[in-house]
Amino acid sequence: MITNDLALAIDSLHRDEVIGLPTETVYGLAANALSTAAVRRIYDIKKRPSTHPLIVHAATLDQAIECVDGFSPQALLLADAFWPGPLTLLIEKHDRIPDLVTAGSPRVAIRIPDHPIALELLSRLPFPLVAPSANPFTKVSPTRAEDVQAYFGTLVPVILQGGPSRRGIESTIVGFEKGVAVIYRLGAIPVESIERLIGPVTIYQTAGAPIVSPGNAQKHYAPDTPLVVSADNQAYLKSHPGLRAAVFAHRHMVPDQLAPVFYSRLKELDRLGYDVLLAEWFPDEGLGRTLNDRLRRSAQFSDVQ
Ligand code: TXA
Ligand code: MG
Repeated sequence: MITNDLALAIDSLHRDEVIGLPTETVYGLAANALSTAAVRRIYDIKKRPSTHPLIVHAATLDQAIECVDGFSPQALLLADAFWPGPLTLLIEKHDRIPDLVTAGSPRVAIRIPDHPIALELLSRLPFPLVAPSANPFTKVSPTRAEDVQAYFGTLVPVILQGGPSRRGIESTIVGFEKGVAVIYRLGAIPVESIERLIGPVTIYQTAGAPIVSPGNAQKHYAPDTPLVVSADNQAYLKSHPGLRAAVFAHRHMVPDQLAPVFYSRLKELDRLGYDVLLAEWFPDEGLGRTLNDRLRRSAQFSDVQ
């Protein structure tokens, strides 16, 4: 059920149930982060392997501090600048965070979401929430309450209505290795905005490396219709005559305009039943870089960018 009833959501969460939670990035499946039983239900419902850790959502900086073993000055600088907002920090975890939340990692991912309903809910709970994006594992992320209902039906009986997600793309995940900031997942905050604050950062490369942040895994966010990303849609169409292709035409939009509707457009095109969806790369800067990342991971096939 899609509802505005916060008391109902609070009651469900106290009973270790999973609810649909609006955030400014995408909708999440939320449960009590301090309850192993509640966290386990999220992995079950999402059909997510328990090797893929979850992001903790806190109401305030004080609550975030209670979940970790101390903020470095750099982490604090970023939190000050971007919280509440689409920045997730990877920090050494406090013992009170169950190992299941971090899939056994000593670091916990944490953020304060910038959505009035999420913040109101969190402020009325005595515990933080874990919330992965509310899509079955590998599927396109949801940006509307109705998407969550379409994916999970009665498995998630309470879904809070928060309108369309304003950012429409997941949070940027930042950790630190030997004092150097590393971006583990490109997201709604562009690399440039982070670098302006703390200087050059490293972007974590997945090729050949162990998976540290599975949002980086290949074949994520995938529509059912094969998505082809090419440097030139027209050339692709000419070389594949007879193919029924829907073109994800975004040339006329700048990435900042497209990001909020990127996933919903992808879903709309997916529903039309074409043989293939065609998209082109964005200029590789700002949010264009994040969208290129998502295109690459959603694609069945992509040529060099
Ligand atoms: O914008 C967002 O971050 C959304 C909203 C709902 O807050 N949440 C989200 O969660 O995107 P999810 O579970 O779909 O993606 C979380 C990503 C995954 O790539 C996961 O591997 C990574 O964060 N992650 C979580 N905890 C981690 C940890 N302890 N160490 C490394 N990566 C972690
Ligand atoms: Mg996700």
